[in-house]
Formats: sequence, C-alpha cells, structure tokens
Amino acid sequence: MFEPAGPVAADCAANAFELAVRTGLAQPQKIIPARYFYDEAGSQLFEAITQLPEYYPTRTETAILADHGAAIAAAIGPGRALVEFGSGSSAKTPLLLRPLHAAAYVPVDISGAYLNQSAAALGLQFPDLAILPVLADFTQAFALPAAVAALPRLGFFPGSTLGNLAPGAAIDLLRGFAQLLGPDSWLVIGTDLAPGPGKSVAVLEAAYDDAAGVTAAFNCNLLHRINRELGGTVRVAHFAHSAVWNADLGRIEMHLVARCDTDFTAAGQAFTMAAGETIHTENSYKWTLADTRLMAQASGWTPAHTWTDGAGCFAVQLWRHNCGAMQP
Ligand code: TRP
Repeated sequence: MFEPAGPVAADCAANAFELAVRTGLAQPQKIIPARYFYDEAGSQLFEAITQLPEYYPTRTETAILADHGAAIAAAIGPGRALVEFGSGSSAKTPLLLRPLHAAAYVPVDISGAYLNQSAAALGLQFPDLAILPVLADFTQAFALPAAVAALPRLGFFPGSTLGNLAPGAAIDLLRGFAQLLGPDSWLVIGTDLAPGPGKSVAVLEAAYDDAAGVTAAFNCNLLHRINRELGGTVRVAHFAHSAVWNADLGRIEMHLVARCDTDFTAAGQAFTMAAGETIHTENSYKWTLADTRLMAQASGWTPAHTWTDGAGCFAVQLWRHNCGAMQP
C-alpha cells in the first residue's frame, strides 16, 4: 500500500534553491549547500556514484546491514514505523525491512519524483507494508504522517549523510530526530570513519574523485541546475571538480573551481569569478567511533551497539533514545 507524496513542498524547494544560490554566491567563499545536488538528475547521478569501484561506503554499509540486519531487528522488535531520512533509492532498506516486521515505512527525501518512484518499487517487494513517503528537507522541521502517530518509531539514517553536516549542525539534527521519533525510539545510523591503519587518505579522496568522472558530473549538475531552474548563464566547461581531504577539519571538501576568469548571471543577479576561485559545494566529515558516540550523547541518544567492516572503514550503529535507555 503506497500513497504518493503531494507537490506542495516542491514549490517551496524551488524558492529555497534560488535563495541559497543568491546568498551563497554573494559570500567571499562562494557556497551552495549540498542538499541542492539532489534534483532528479542529481539523484540519478548519485545512484551511479554508489556503484563506482572507488566509492566504498555504499557496498561496505550494505555488507554490514546484510550481515547484521537480523541482529539489529532482534534488538529492536517488530511493529514499528521505520522512518528513513534521505531515503533516495531505498536500496538498503529491504535489508532492515525483511527481518524487522515493521508496521509502516516512511521514506523522507527532498527529491519528489525520485521519492515516489522508489516508494512504488519498494511497494512491489513489500505488498503488505504501509508505505507513506514524505517530501521534505529533513534538516528542517517536518511532520510525520498522521497514520504513524500512534506507532513506536525506528529512525534509519544510512549513507553517512550525517557527515555532510558540520559537527554542531549534526548534533542539532540528531536532537531533532530524537524529538521527532519520540521517547520510545531507536536510530540505526551509518557513518563513514576517519582514516586509520586500514584506510588511507588516497582511498578516501578517490571515493570523491572517481576515474570515470561521475562525481565530477554530479558536482557540475549543480551548475546545470542553476541554468535550468534559475535562468542561469553559467559556462559549465569553465569549472573543474575538486575533492580534497582537509586534515585539520577532518573532512573531504568538494569544490567547483573556476578554470579561468568567468562571469554569469543567475536568479537575475550578476556574478564574476577569478581563475582559481571556487564554489564550495560539499563537506563529508569522517569521524572516529568515539566522536560519533559523543555526538549521540550530546543529542539525546545512548549508543547500544556498533558493527563495522573488518578494515574499520565504515560503522553502523544502533542508538536508543535517552528516555528509553538506562542512564548510569
Ligand atoms: N553522504 C555521502 C558521503 O558523504 C554521500 C555524498 C554526498 C557524496 N555528496 C557526495 C558522495 C559527493 C560522493 C560525492 O559520502
């Protein structure tokens, strides 16, 4: 049973993109927030990234969920509403849904067409499950469907999406999830880990700058989006993709670098960029397990269990809402 999400939030999203571009490109260090990668074309390019040989996070997290999905489900128990933040293609969801015996599935995503396609596809695999998609930017407050108001909840936040926020914003978001999901809730969260003995910086950088150029196309799609949606005149060939590890801040940074002096208009405003100037489009923070556990405790969650791959590249953790967990 699957009910498509309505178009209302999409109209707001178009205005939000315009505002983000106008204000972000007026800063000394130009910036466009990463959530605007994910129009339908961007969501499809991201899906292609997840299949690249260099992009280890997806297959590593998928393997952890395949190996331990049953243990996760056993710890949590049946009858919950599974709420997935940034559900995208919902490709990993069956690994939890199959053992979980959930009462409902609520995929939340910013890309409307993509959300409804993925929900419909999942509905074929789980014909008896109530699937209630929500079109929303989950970094802003939003309401869960009334149909799940009375159900206990399990949040699912895979893909190391938490790492796309700076630590302060990440803690705010996790606190928001605790409030939204309620006192009896759990959260399954996947985070990519900091470089260590089993993980080099070279492996990390390659994951964000693949040989086939798919990540470059994903980054440049933001410029095409400006041209398509905001009447922009950006000459996309004037820009190059860059992804570098910033060791001081513990994050991969993605930028669009001007290859030459260039100018353009967007959303009715004129912009000029000098050769070498960049638009900062994404951060992907890489935390240690200790970092993520501190973030849990700072935001209303108690870490209950951690699963990692053998090399220590990626972690899936189960956290319990503080009100439901024993406090020492
Ligand atoms: N959250 C994922 C990560 O940081 C996905 C992601 C966001 C991503 N932006 C990206 C992956 C750009 C590749 C390139 O890895």
